[in-house]
Amino acid sequence: MSARRKRIVLLGATGSIGESTRRVIAAHRDRLELVAVAGRGRWEQLAAIAREHGVREVGIFDEGALAAARASPAAFPPGTRLHGGLEGLRELARLPEADLVLVAVVGTLGLEPALAAIAAGKDLALASKEILVLAGPFVMAEARRHGVRILPVDSEHNAVFQCLEGHPAAAVRRIVLTASGGAFRDWPAERLAQATPADALRHPNWSMGPKITVDSATLANKGLELIEAQHLFGLRPEQCGAVLHPQSIVHCLVEFTDGAMLAQLCPPSMTFPIQHALLHPERPPGTEPALSLERAFGLEFRPVDEARFPMLRLAREVMVAGGAAPAAYNAANEVAVAAFLAGRLPFLAIPRVVETVLAEMPTLPSPDLAAVLAADAEARRRAAAHLPAANP
Ligand SMILES: NC(=O)c1ccc[n+]([C@@H]2O[C@H](COP(=O)([O-])OP(=O)(O)OC[C@H]3O[C@@H](n4cnc5c(N)ncnc54)[C@H](OP(=O)(O)O)[C@@H]3O)[C@@H](O)[C@H]2O)c1
Repeated sequence: MSARRKRIVLLGATGSIGESTRRVIAAHRDRLELVAVAGRGRWEQLAAIAREHGVREVGIFDEGALAAARASPAAFPPGTRLHGGLEGLRELARLPEADLVLVAVVGTLGLEPALAAIAAGKDLALASKEILVLAGPFVMAEARRHGVRILPVDSEHNAVFQCLEGHPAAAVRRIVLTASGGAFRDWPAERLAQATPADALRHPNWSMGPKITVDSATLANKGLELIEAQHLFGLRPEQCGAVLHPQSIVHCLVEFTDGAMLAQLCPPSMTFPIQHALLHPERPPGTEPALSLERAFGLEFRPVDEARFPMLRLAREVMVAGGAAPAAYNAANEVAVAAFLAGRLPFLAIPRVVETVLAEMPTLPSPDLAAVLAADAEARRRAAAHLPAANP
């Protein structure tokens, strides 16, 4: 057992990653302690989590929910401090007693809290892939400058991290991330025009939040992950690839210069990568049972059909273009996915909106962070302008 429990701040505690993280912490109370939690609006759920884990630092982004929580102090453990808005997330990210901050809020909102955690010298466990897509070079440079570790929570990146340990960067030829193929893996191209949000949310292997589940159905999720991998592991675009693997048991393949490949396998549950990220380099027993080799199972790999899933092609194009292009890809995708989920945009229009926005955006070869954030905002504005008018 470690001398002192590792103290964890969990941003996005009420979500899908948040739930898996709480399971990992509950299974390893001798090594891990939750010291702060945050979410957007579901304050009663946050209060229940705070009571269960004895947490006294709680962040609530939404103003109305914060007011409701302030009016019900008895719902929280005695002495609880409530933190509001984005500043509240930043305060939690630099909490003096914290050792590690896990960022698992949807989208790019976690960027500022992530930078606050790094500046305060906290290790960062990163689930929110959009943060590195938006600002990968800046986040990685800040982490190097402050000497903190960025531990990938995304299952594929966590798998790559495990396969790369102990190998020099020069020995890596390429990494290949596996893709389950999402809800429409086996749908013929002509049926995709009719795909509804309910269809897209029926993921065959993973239970996740709605935005990432739609991203899995378009394969934008894999595109975002390729960009994320490029920054996390310092790779060139052509060193990052994807392969379809319907079983979601192999999470990555790393090919070395001698042609050997290492793979990482575990059941498709986020408790495995989360536990690895929270406890690295320790390997206590898992939160859930390991793969069973007592019964037969197959592992299948096939190339991704980019004609059916253009979001992957677009991701590779923005990786090569660099500059603010990945930020624009991510921003336009967020707007298009939200419109699809709201029933305002057909499924096949998601890549069309993103491609149109990318074609309109000026190229910025080496933007600073302010220019990237401006490109993000501009891409969101342009994407919104390409949505069908809302019904009156
Ligand atoms: N789910 C997975 O298996 C998985 C795997 C790899 C990576 N990821 C990444 O992890 C991130 C979270 O995904 P998820 O599936 O866990 O999403 P989710 O289930 O939708 O949960 C999102 C969480 O973020 C909180 N949140 C949203 N907006 C917020 C804001 N403005 N301020 C504070 N908290 C906010 C939500 O709070 P409320 O509940 O109050 O709205 C909730 O706790 C995403 O970036 C995703 O790409 C997820």
